[in-house]
Amino acid sequence: VACGSAYHVGVVAQYVMEDLAKIPVRVELASEFRYRKPLLDPDGLVIVISQSGETADSLAALRLAKDKGLKTLGIVNVVGSSIARESDLVLYTKAGSEIAVATTKAYSAQTALLSLIALNIGQKNISKAELKELLESIKKLPAQMEILLNKDKKYQEIAETIYNKEDIFFIGRDIDYAIAMEGSLKLKEISYIHSEAYPAGELKHGTISLIEEGTPVISI
Ligand code: F6R
Repeated sequence: VACGSAYHVGVVAQYVMEDLAKIPVRVELASEFRYRKPLLDPDGLVIVISQSGETADSLAALRLAKDKGLKTLGIVNVVGSSIARESDLVLYTKAGSEIAVATTKAYSAQTALLSLIALNIGQKNISKAELKELLESIKKLPAQMEILLNKDKKYQEIAETIYNKEDIFFIGRDIDYAIAMEGSLKLKEISYIHSEAYPAGELKHGTISLIEEGTPVISI
């Protein structure tokens, strides 16, 4: 349960948890969860993801889950925040403070942390070699991100081709759809360009009519 980018992390986690841990997962926007009448499994775990640990809808969702007697886990960045204090269990992302409003490093840290939880639960479902490979690839992430962050010229080039567009679409399937959702939110939040993310196979069911000659479609 989460809002905004943290919700997009939940969408990633849903794919990864079901795939690796083989546990049914349902991801929900906190603002929907708190205002409907969810049927909750008393043995279930409610994971609340929040950078600040103070988002009102996420905090209300946490309290609702606790009132219904469910165990709660907070994935939180800000130490001692309300969600961290009120969750039964808390794991800190320790990504440092988010200075710019748009979350980036907390998003990456939340994604890595939830993937590690899925891997921990799911290690019995995969071979030792596969587990080793997955852990190694997580360890390589900082160096790989460093390489990506240094490709300024490439980003400049892309920005020059899309900065004056009215609409931009992001598409992807499975975990890439989750990444597309975050890409789209980041783009609109920072550039004020309208953008939408679609599961790749769903685009043809109507929305494709908005795609004209020259509309950028970023495929993940
Ligand atoms: C987007 C962004 C927001 C937050 C959302 C939840 O860049 O920062 O969408 O992700 O407001 O905030 P937290 O994680 O603090 O609960």
